[in-house]
Amino acid sequence: MEWDSDWEEEEEEMVGEREEEGYLLGSGGPFLFSIGDLPESASFGFVVCDALELDYPIIYVNTTFEKVTGYRAEEVLGRNCRFLQCRGAFAQRRHTMVDPSVVAEMHRCLREGADFSGEVLNFSKDGAPLTNRLTLTPIYGDDDLITHVIAVQVFTEAKLDLDPLPTASAKAAPRPAGPPPSWFVSGPSRGQVCRELCCLLQLSDEVLSQKILLRLPPRDIAAVGLVCKRFYELSRNEHLWRLVCRNAWGWESVQALEAAAAPPGGKRQPLRWERLARELTTLEAVAWRRLSVGGVVEPSRCNFSTCAVGNRVVLFGGEGVNMQPMNDTFVLDLGATRPEWRPVNVASPPPGRWGHTLSSLNGSRLVVFGGCGTQGLLNDVFLLDLDAKSPTWRDISGLSPPPARSWHSSCTLDGSTLLVTGGCADAGVLLNDTFTLDLTAENTATWKEILPSGTATAATAWKEKPPPRLGHTLSVYGGRKVLMFGGLAKSGPLRLRSSDVFTLDLAQEEPCWRCITGSAMPGAGNPAGAGPPPRLDHVAASLPGGRVLIFGGSVAGLHSASQLYVLDPAEEEPRWRILTVPGRPPRFAWGHSTCVVGGTRIVVLGGQTGEEWMLGELYELSLASFGS
Ligand SMILES: Cc1cc2nc3c(=O)[nH]c(=O)nc-3n(C[C@H](O)[C@H](O)[C@H](O)COP(=O)(O)O)c2cc1C
Repeated sequence: MEWDSDWEEEEEEMVGEREEEGYLLGSGGPFLFSIGDLPESASFGFVVCDALELDYPIIYVNTTFEKVTGYRAEEVLGRNCRFLQCRGAFAQRRHTMVDPSVVAEMHRCLREGADFSGEVLNFSKDGAPLTNRLTLTPIYGDDDLITHVIAVQVFTEAKLDLDPLPTASAKAAPRPAGPPPSWFVSGPSRGQVCRELCCLLQLSDEVLSQKILLRLPPRDIAAVGLVCKRFYELSRNEHLWRLVCRNAWGWESVQALEAAAAPPGGKRQPLRWERLARELTTLEAVAWRRLSVGGVVEPSRCNFSTCAVGNRVVLFGGEGVNMQPMNDTFVLDLGATRPEWRPVNVASPPPGRWGHTLSSLNGSRLVVFGGCGTQGLLNDVFLLDLDAKSPTWRDISGLSPPPARSWHSSCTLDGSTLLVTGGCADAGVLLNDTFTLDLTAENTATWKEILPSGTATAATAWKEKPPPRLGHTLSVYGGRKVLMFGGLAKSGPLRLRSSDVFTLDLAQEEPCWRCITGSAMPGAGNPAGAGPPPRLDHVAASLPGGRVLIFGGSVAGLHSASQLYVLDPAEEEPRWRILTVPGRPPRFAWGHSTCVVGGTRIVVLGGQTGEEWMLGELYELSLASFGS
């Protein structure tokens, strides 16, 4: 096949042949896509995108696509197809008449690996509106991974009354007249090779530079943008920044931010990825603010546990008057116009408790572990799907559970694994064990203890378990890494507040705790210099990108500590830094509960006044100006 009119004819012939077979053939076998579904007379666009690369870059377009849209293959290879939703050659904004619900549906189908079929408004390169009857079909490789997505596009003229595009440059570039360059088409036998070479070599500068830029960290892209006007323009592309954020912070963080910006039934907020990347890199927009919310959590209580599900804060259990263990569930939707606490009507609630943990799993699932109930300490596990039709707590009696405990710390990894460390067992004994529970298949959930590695050789590898403790925090960063900070830790015969930082990488074959800074660092003092004073019952949150922020807690000699500290555990020699933040922090900042809502809002609840627990007043540490 050659990149000229002969090739077009040849291709049309081939399509005819394939149509008889009813399938399109690929190198890996027939794509299960029925051509018979298409209108008989339609000449259709055909596009293949790489699903293993970031953002589905186009790797093939047929001639009909080129003819109808006016975009030549070399201009669009490497791009995502969404430019067709913008009016004008590679305009950067989706046209206002493109139905966002259709785009969201495409997005959902691609994310979930489902087929999509629908109608979307597109524009040719010269700005002419086109109705595109689009079908997207994911193609699975041998290992059940989606490797490609193929699209069939049936374009018809859309009858819309639009102003002509202002500049001549927006017009479709005419196809070059005369024969193609000699190196390009040198003989029929090399046609196919030439076409492929063309795909590789003739990506436009813009596509190439975007591909290079999206592999850089946000700071570097900002620096490249300062070089000249052209680089500045290239670096000001919201789709580029979305991918950069995805590279820097992980796909889950980007999804959490998108979900928070478009809450179901709530007010949609525009996400500006470039600004978000800057604010979360420099932390220039971090600020405290006070939130007043409606509703009440009754009966009043302390020592409850909270976590976030999307924009919602969920509260479970706690200690009421006369040490009454509670087992009720409340929700506060911070995406609502007037957030208020509401009790959730749930079936089969777990036994009442306090000093337990509540953690969120993927989707809208929540998990409760341990705590102290009327019968003493607990080691049971309960799951709830908050968005189920009739939410019901389910008892997951995982095999080989850890000893019963309270005041432990928990976190979740990959949205499906619960990790529990330390806490206080019977007779006040402090614990230093670490357990995981994979909740992917609830029926076969089995607890697994993470034991110290006998083979770890690095100087900082913790050959023993970290000292036993309670009131510490766990923060997840970098996918499957966990950072443990502080708590009341055993030190010889004493129990002292700690400022030690341990990390655990569960992606390793033999995960083991490593002390990365603090007095427990083997053979060293505190190389991190002015770290936070030792504490327990503090707030810890991980920021998109992996830095961990701590605040508050019970600190020796001080009523409470309002200074904010940030640590990047990925640094070669992690070092605490103080973050100066405007706004009004909570006055009393220990014994509260906290959660990160929508990726950028650290919500602190229930600061203790000594007399009562106030849940109508919350404090929020917002990391970005979006969502505030
Ligand atoms: C193979 C393939 C072909 C696509 N073709 C089109 C198209 O012709 N027109 C269009 O508007 N979107 C098309 N899309 C969808 C967009 O590329 C994009 O996925 C969609 O806008 C939703 O994602 P977004 O919200 O990130 O923009 C195609 C996607 C794939 C994977």
